[in-house]
Amino acid sequence: MKQPREHWGSKLGLILATAGSAVGLGSVWRFPYMVGQNGGGAFVLLYVIFTALIGIPVFIAEVIIGRHTQKSAVLAYSELRPHSANWKMLGWLNVITCFLILAYYCVIAGWCTSYSLMSLNQFWTGKSPEEIRGAFDILSSSPDITIFWLFIYILLNVGIVYSGIRKGIEHWSRILMPAFLAILLALFFYAATLSGFGKAATYLFKPDFSNLTPSGILAALGMAFFTLSVGLGIILTYGSYMKESEDVPKMGLTVALLTTGISLITAQMIYPIIFSFGFSPEQGPGLLFKTMPVIFSQMPGSLLISTAFFLLVVFIALTSTVSLIEVLVANLIELFNFSRTKAVVLTGVGVFIVGLPCALSNTSVLFPEWAAIYGRNFFDTMDYLTASWMMPIAGLLTTLFVGYFMEKRMVKDEYLKGTTMKKFFGVWLFCVRYLAPAAVLIIIFQEIGLINFDKIANLFSRS
Ligand code: PHE
Repeated sequence: MKQPREHWGSKLGLILATAGSAVGLGSVWRFPYMVGQNGGGAFVLLYVIFTALIGIPVFIAEVIIGRHTQKSAVLAYSELRPHSANWKMLGWLNVITCFLILAYYCVIAGWCTSYSLMSLNQFWTGKSPEEIRGAFDILSSSPDITIFWLFIYILLNVGIVYSGIRKGIEHWSRILMPAFLAILLALFFYAATLSGFGKAATYLFKPDFSNLTPSGILAALGMAFFTLSVGLGIILTYGSYMKESEDVPKMGLTVALLTTGISLITAQMIYPIIFSFGFSPEQGPGLLFKTMPVIFSQMPGSLLISTAFFLLVVFIALTSTVSLIEVLVANLIELFNFSRTKAVVLTGVGVFIVGLPCALSNTSVLFPEWAAIYGRNFFDTMDYLTASWMMPIAGLLTTLFVGYFMEKRMVKDEYLKGTTMKKFFGVWLFCVRYLAPAAVLIIIFQEIGLINFDKIANLFSRS
């Protein structure tokens, strides 16, 4: 007999869990270093614009598919287009992307776990800023430590997902999200006392478009998708647990405000450290780990603050990875009739196996020549492929699906149910049908060289 689908216990629980999925390492770890690698303010501005005009519409589109079908990605697409194998592939693309992201995401979360313990030991004592920064290079190039923490972190996830939706995700989100926000704000105010605060604000909020490359534009789009968790079927799956009374557009807006807010606050907390100590903004994925301990080493109460900070980062990462794992588990259960236990264990083992090469990419144990050949090591390649390509492409297809392949009446009904933002339906539909697909396509065409805006701009400026 078909079991009734579990629904969220409360509105607050749902918002917190969705926000928990969205607020994660994307805002705290990935956004700050991507800003540095892509030249600062212009990237930040594009990220905000893309979140508003493309991210939120895709978010709403995903919820509509999920809530309407009450199914996870693969089956949702096949239910809505039963005779098309192609749309089912989009569901699979979602599942595979989740899986690949999880693999490297868990490695970073594992490093955060390690940093909590290192903070308890006050590893920075007696070290110069350069030596403190060097600790990250040692950690990330140590295969045994990295793999150990990857394993522990995956175990934690499996435990939480195993205990079920409500008890697991909701319970944790309620306690840990507010705690994280509190510590983030405290650190932000501390950073405001540093000499580099003003310079950081100029760097982040005064766009200089001469620093922006086509890859940077694509990266900003990917970043918007990453922080909102769209283009992965996560929001679709969460939507499938939602009741009809839920206000979907408002939720998209709330979550987007929260994630972008946290991304911006985190960057405005980290960059003053970079400028006050004369570091370079282009440090790549180690940025969070290299800057924060430097400031902790100079703060009063650093033992407590640093440990709490990294532990809370682990927890917000957990609420995100749990949602990624939940998507995989939900799909496995629906597609193959697996028991929850079997699906959870299989996912955990799978993620660990794919996580291994990611964990080893900064060491010389595996793929030592990868970076020389592909320009990025294995870890960075995964990050680039998933965030810059797979998520935007899936997002594009999702908008096309909702905009052109679902019955308009059905889409409209689903949008209007439970919402107070009825009058924005037209705006949303315009974004989903025209603006978002066109923007994503143009950005991708520019990146692969099919169109060249620099040339077009030059033509205009000459004539
Ligand atoms: N959005 C969350 C983050 O920014 C989690 C997430 C990331 C989910 C990437 C999916 C993909 O960390």
